[in-house]
Amino acid sequence: MRRKFVAGNWKMHGSLAANEALLRALLAGLGNGYAAEVCVCAPFPYLAQCASLLAGSRIAWGAQNASQHDHGAYTGEVSAAMLREFGCRHVIVGHSERRALYGETDGLVAEKVSAVLAQSLVPILCVGERLEERESGVAEQVIGHQLDAVLSHCGIGAFAGLVVAYEPVWAIGTGRTATPEQAQAVHAFIRGRIAAHDAAIAQALVIQYGGSVKPGNAAQLFAQPDIDGGLIGGASLVAEDFIEIVRAAA
Ligand code: PGA
Repeated sequence: MRRKFVAGNWKMHGSLAANEALLRALLAGLGNGYAAEVCVCAPFPYLAQCASLLAGSRIAWGAQNASQHDHGAYTGEVSAAMLREFGCRHVIVGHSERRALYGETDGLVAEKVSAVLAQSLVPILCVGERLEERESGVAEQVIGHQLDAVLSHCGIGAFAGLVVAYEPVWAIGTGRTATPEQAQAVHAFIRGRIAAHDAAIAQALVIQYGGSVKPGNAAQLFAQPDIDGGLIGGASLVAEDFIEIVRAAA
């Protein structure tokens, strides 16, 4: 049985005061009454704050990006080794906002996956199609290419150490969620693509759904056979909503 995994993607939101209130509310509200694995992915400057508030709890913390390089003259970049020093367990890689706004290509995303794995951290590899790609019937082709870039750069073994997040770009921050059936179909496609290389790795691969997951739709999404939890944006900033979503992943 695959574990359910719910991660919050705070994006560029938060402050010392707001994060402290949110994390204390999560710790108090979740208690021990949930089965899923939980992580919050915070902006870099707040990782030390997450470490100090969450150490010893069941809530892990992670980052939203990492450099493909180990160290060097890369002004403004942050390496996976640095993230490990701050206790991160997960790193979101290839989020559609980074692909669209910062020009991250399938090839660069694959290099980042490799850099994160090299530090024994768990990449949350984001894949997903844009609206025009879905409407023109090439969603699976696009997602296939995104996966193949990682397969060819890192090898199938990488998929034993990472999590995939399927995030249809048209569902992110729009309030327009994929239906459980639409999401399930793509999740099954992703698992099948990996199974063509290694059936056991595919069977164990955790595939999150992301894109306007809310307390009202989480349980139905998470009940699908190939949906193993969620990557949560907006709702991860509201303690009661995130708690409800985590509880829905029982
Ligand atoms: P959303 O974001 O839940 O606000 O749609 C999801 C994401 O971008 O990871």
